[in-house]
Amino acid sequence: MENEYLILDNLYKIYNPATAGEVTALDHMSLSLKRGEFVTIVGSNAAGKSSLFNAIAGSLELTSGKIILDGARIDHLDEHVRAAYVSRVRQNPNESTVPSMTLAENLAMAKARVVGAGLGKGVRKEWRPEFEALLKPLGIGLEKRLETEMSLFSGGQKQSVALLMATMIKPKLLLLDEHTAALDPRVSEQILRMTDNEVRKHNITTLMITHNIHHAIKYGDRLIMLERGRVVFEASGEGKKKLTIAGVVEKLEAKVADFEEEMIAR
Ligand SMILES: Nc1ncnc2c1ncn2[C@@H]1O[C@H](COP(=O)(O)OP(=O)(O)O)[C@@H](O)[C@H]1O
Ligand SMILES: [Mg+2]
Repeated sequence: MENEYLILDNLYKIYNPATAGEVTALDHMSLSLKRGEFVTIVGSNAAGKSSLFNAIAGSLELTSGKIILDGARIDHLDEHVRAAYVSRVRQNPNESTVPSMTLAENLAMAKARVVGAGLGKGVRKEWRPEFEALLKPLGIGLEKRLETEMSLFSGGQKQSVALLMATMIKPKLLLLDEHTAALDPRVSEQILRMTDNEVRKHNITTLMITHNIHHAIKYGDRLIMLERGRVVFEASGEGKKKLTIAGVVEKLEAKVADFEEEMIAR
C-alpha cells in the first residue's frame, strides 16, 4: 500500500440512514492507484459512480472510510481546499467553464488557483502568451479566440477548455465524470485523445467514469466495474487489452443479475 498514490479505503456511504429511503451507495469499497495511473470506471445506473466522485471531491460526506492522496488524508477537508489539487470535468460543457466569461478569463481563473491570485477574473498581460502556447497544441485554433465569450463555443471546444483548465494546474488527481457523453462521437474521440495526451504528458493520476465500454477498454491502464457500491471486476495490462465490448456488457449484466438474486434471497 505504501507506494500507492491514491488510496480509497473502505468507503461506505448510506443515504437517509434508518429511514424507509435508506440507500447504500458505497458498500465498503476499496481501490488504490499508483501515481500517474489512469483508471476507467464502468457500472450501471445507481452503481455508486457519482457518489464516489462526490466523496473524493468533497461534496459528499462519507458515512465512514478514508481517502488518502499523496500520503495525506483528505476526506475531512472542505471541497474548496481539495479543489486546489483535485480537478473534475463534468458531462455538461456549461458546468466546467463559466459561459459568461471569455476564454482568457476562464483560463485565468484556473491559473489563479495555482498562483493563489484569488478567484478574480483578471487576466494578467503576461499570462496571454502562456495561454496561447497552451491552446495551440490542441490544433483547433482556440489560441486566436482568447477574447471570445465561452458561451459562443461548441460543446467540444468547451470541453477542450475545461480539460485544459483541469490539467493546467497539474492536479494530484483528475476526475473525469462522463466528460464526453454529451458530445457527438467524432468530437468525443477527439476529446478523449486530448485527455490521454494531457494525462500522459503530465503523469496525472486519473479516474474516468464512462458509459462507453469501448472507451473504457481503449483508454487507461486499468478498467474497473462498480456495482452496488463495490468493485466487482477489474482488468489491466494484457487482460484489459483482451476485453471485448460484448464481454464487458455480459459481465455487467451478470453482476446486476447476481445482485438481484441476492436481494430476493434476503
Ligand atoms: N442524494 C441522494 N439521496 C438519496 N439517495 C441517493 C442520493 N444520491 C444518490 N442516491 C442513491 O445512491 C445510489 C448510487 O447513486 P449514484 O452514486 O448516483 O450512482 P451512479 O452515478 O453510478 O448512477 C443510487 O441508488 C441512488 O439512487
Ligand atoms: Mg451518476
